[in-house]
Amino acid sequence: MAEEVVVKGWVYKRRKMGAKIFIDLRTVFPQEFTGQVLQVVVSKESLSDDEFNRLKKITQESALEIKGILKEEPRAPGGVELHVNKVLWVNEAESPYPLGKKAHSPDVLLRNRHLTIRSPRYQKILIIREKVTDFLREWFKQDGWYEVFPPILVFTAAEGGATLFKVDYFEEIGFLSQSAQLYLEALIFSLGKVFSLTPSFRAEKSRTPRHLTEFWHFEAEGAWYRYDDIMRAQESAVAYTIKKLLEDEKMRNWIKEFRGDISILENIKLPFPRIKYSETIDILQSKGFNISWGDDLGADEEKALSEEFEQPFFVTHYPTAIKAFYVKETPEDPKICYSADLMAPEGYGEITTGGEREENIDRLIERIKREGFDPELYYWYLDLRRYGSVPHSGFGLGIERFMRWLLKLYHIRDTVPFPRLARRKELV
Ligand code: 4AD
Ligand code: MG
Repeated sequence: MAEEVVVKGWVYKRRKMGAKIFIDLRTVFPQEFTGQVLQVVVSKESLSDDEFNRLKKITQESALEIKGILKEEPRAPGGVELHVNKVLWVNEAESPYPLGKKAHSPDVLLRNRHLTIRSPRYQKILIIREKVTDFLREWFKQDGWYEVFPPILVFTAAEGGATLFKVDYFEEIGFLSQSAQLYLEALIFSLGKVFSLTPSFRAEKSRTPRHLTEFWHFEAEGAWYRYDDIMRAQESAVAYTIKKLLEDEKMRNWIKEFRGDISILENIKLPFPRIKYSETIDILQSKGFNISWGDDLGADEEKALSEEFEQPFFVTHYPTAIKAFYVKETPEDPKICYSADLMAPEGYGEITTGGEREENIDRLIERIKREGFDPELYYWYLDLRRYGSVPHSGFGLGIERFMRWLLKLYHIRDTVPFPRLARRKELV
C-alpha cells in the first residue's frame, strides 16, 4: 500500500521523536478515519523548511489540510500512518486549548461541551447513535410502518402533569410534548401503523444518571395491534438493531471498547422473557426490598431486577393505578392493565414503555379527570373512540436509555451531544 491522499482534520496530539514529529490527527476526510486518530509522520526531508517549521509548533485543534502517502503501520491506530509530503492549508488554533492535556471535571466538560464533543470518544458515540436510529427505522420501514411527523408544541399532556414544560403560547398555555403517542393514535386511523422519532421533554427535577429533560423518543402505534403484537414488534426491532450493529466490524469494535464484554449482545434471542409485575414483587421481596403490590418499581428495584437477566425482558401486567390514563384495563381485573416495560439487563432497567390502549370512552374520561386534566381539551382524542375505534397498541423507546445500556455508560448525558439536565448552570 502506497497511496497518495489528501487528509483534512484537526490536531489532537503532537509529539517529537528524534528528528520526526508525530501528529495524531482527528480526521473527518477521508471519513473512514473519523472516530479514531490518524497518525501523521512529519519528517524534515519530505517537507520544505517552512512547512516543517509550521508543523513542528502546531497547536492542539489547529485545522490542517495535508497531502501524503498512507503506509501500513501495525503499531498505529487503525494500522496505517500518513507520511506527509505537502501542507495544503493550515488554520492555527489559539493556545492553550481549554481542554488541554489534563483530565477535567464533569462540570468543566459540560461547560465546554461544544469542544468536548470533538474527542474520539464522542465521535464514536455520535456515529453509533446514528446507526442505532438508522436500524430502528429500517426495521419498522421493512415491516410496513410509515414514518410520521407529529407536533412538538402541544396543548394536551400525554404523561403526568408533574413533568410538563409550559410554553407561553401567545398568552395562552402550551406544552412541550412528553410523547407523540396521542397524535400517533390519531394517525393510525389514517395510515394503519406509524412511527416517529421526535424530541420529548420532561420537567424531571430528579437528578439521576438516567434522566434527561429532553430526550429522543422512538414511538410506534399500530391499529389492530394487541398487547402481544406490540411486544413482538419491540423485541424484533431491538434484536435487529443489535444484530445489524454487530455485523458492522467497526461498530462491533467500538461497542466492545465501551462495554467490554459483548456476549450478552451476541446472545440475544427471541422471544425476550416476559415476567408479570406481580412476580417481580415476589422476586424483589425475596431480595429484601420493602415493596408491596401496587408500588411503582423505582430505580433501585429495576436495577436489582435487571441484574437477574442476561437478555432484555418485559415486565407485564402492571397495576393500572401506576400507569398513564390511556392504558387498557384487563377484562379479568381492572386493577391490572395491558402495559409492559422493556427492561435492559445488567442493571440498566427500563428502555421502553408500551401496551394496549383503552377504547372505552367513559373509562378514559374518568381517568383523564383523575389525572387532573380537563376532558374538554381532549375532545379530539376522545373522538378517536367515537369514530371507528379499533383495538390498538404502541410503545416508546428512549434512544438515550438504549444507548446507555448498549455502551454501558454511567451517565445518560454522554449519549447526546448537548444534554439538557435539571439545571441551567454549566450547560452549553
Ligand atoms: O415510559 P414513558 O414515559 O412512556 C411514554 O411516554 C409512552 N407514551 C410511550 C408510548 O407508548 N408511545 O417514556 C417512554 C420511554 C421510557 O421507557 C424511556 O426509555 C424514555 O422514554 N424516557 C426518558 N429518557 C430519558 N430521560 C427521561 N426523562 C425519560 N423519560 C422517558
Ligand atoms: Mg415508562
